[in-house]
Amino acid sequence: MLVLLQLTFLFSSVLLLSSTGFAAVSFPVTKPVPRATISTLAPYTQFARAAYCPQYKLHRWECGVACNALTSFQPSLVAGDGNGIQTYFVGYWPPEKTVIVAHQGTDPTRLVSDLTDMNILLDPLNDTLFPDVPSNVKVHDGFRNEHALTAPIILAEVKKLFKYRHIKKVTVIGHSLGGALAELDALYLTLNLPANTSVHAVTYGTPRVGNLAFAKLIDKMVPNFRRINNKKDIVPIVPGRSMGFAHPRGELHILSPGKAIFCPGNDDAINWQCQIQTVPTVLRGSLVDHLGPYEGIPIGTGACT
Ligand SMILES: *[C@@H]1O[C@H](CO)[C@@H](O)[C@H](O)[C@H]1NC(C)=O
Ligand SMILES: *[C@@H]1O[C@H](CO)[C@@H](O)[C@H](O)[C@H]1NC(C)=O
Repeated sequence: MLVLLQLTFLFSSVLLLSSTGFAAVSFPVTKPVPRATISTLAPYTQFARAAYCPQYKLHRWECGVACNALTSFQPSLVAGDGNGIQTYFVGYWPPEKTVIVAHQGTDPTRLVSDLTDMNILLDPLNDTLFPDVPSNVKVHDGFRNEHALTAPIILAEVKKLFKYRHIKKVTVIGHSLGGALAELDALYLTLNLPANTSVHAVTYGTPRVGNLAFAKLIDKMVPNFRRINNKKDIVPIVPGRSMGFAHPRGELHILSPGKAIFCPGNDDAINWQCQIQTVPTVLRGSLVDHLGPYEGIPIGTGACT
């Protein structure tokens, strides 16, 4: 840990020094994540993991390790058809007085093959669901269409729980495709809930969802946005930036157990410890790292134990 801190410090200093030569350019700097901060993410990781469990287990909140780690959670909606609509759940989590919305991901091999397809379309958002979003904001059409299938149902459930629990905080969570859906939900809920609502997002191994205008809109509208990438996971680098895709801010990159860094900027391409430099091409990426473990917690179909 000390070595990492020193290395990061050294690297930051080099960047700072080198930036003094170019007064107009300010290089972003990575920051090590304190161990205490890393451990506060564990419950969100367990929610992302739980979303892969069978629905009958989620209804009773008896899904093994993930549910046992979140005993006070009260699910109120568990749905999805395992076909066009992956499992998702909504409920109330007392420790943070927040509504939780969590989405399951999908088979990562298929996801990567879909997202490296050269025919991916970037389309504007539906302006009924996303009112007043400029038409230059575009997202992957597959993510957009799948999100639309669950969006109004989730919004209604969140409103119901806000009223019943007298709260105004919602946290959207997901891994893989589920992270992409959570990212869209973060914007959708921000636009459709009262202005004083607090929307938080925590995503894991999320692909790029939309273009730079979309990423910047997330930065502006959802300041509490965190996306967590594990080591050499391949998924966060697809679809490629060359195809017009970008990530919002908020990257936390897990380097090894207990060691993680905050990466500044949208889709940080400069820092050697962030995702892009770590996985410069799909050939250098890993599908195994996509499944974690995220600080000791595995996420995926095989992780509902
Ligand atoms: C946009 O969403 C609304 C509400 O879900 C739906 O009725 C409408 O058909 C959608 N429009 C397009 C162009 O998909
Ligand atoms: C939040 O906004 C809603 C509707 O706009 C309002 O009813 C409620 O009193 C507000 N709550 C707070 C704490 O400001």
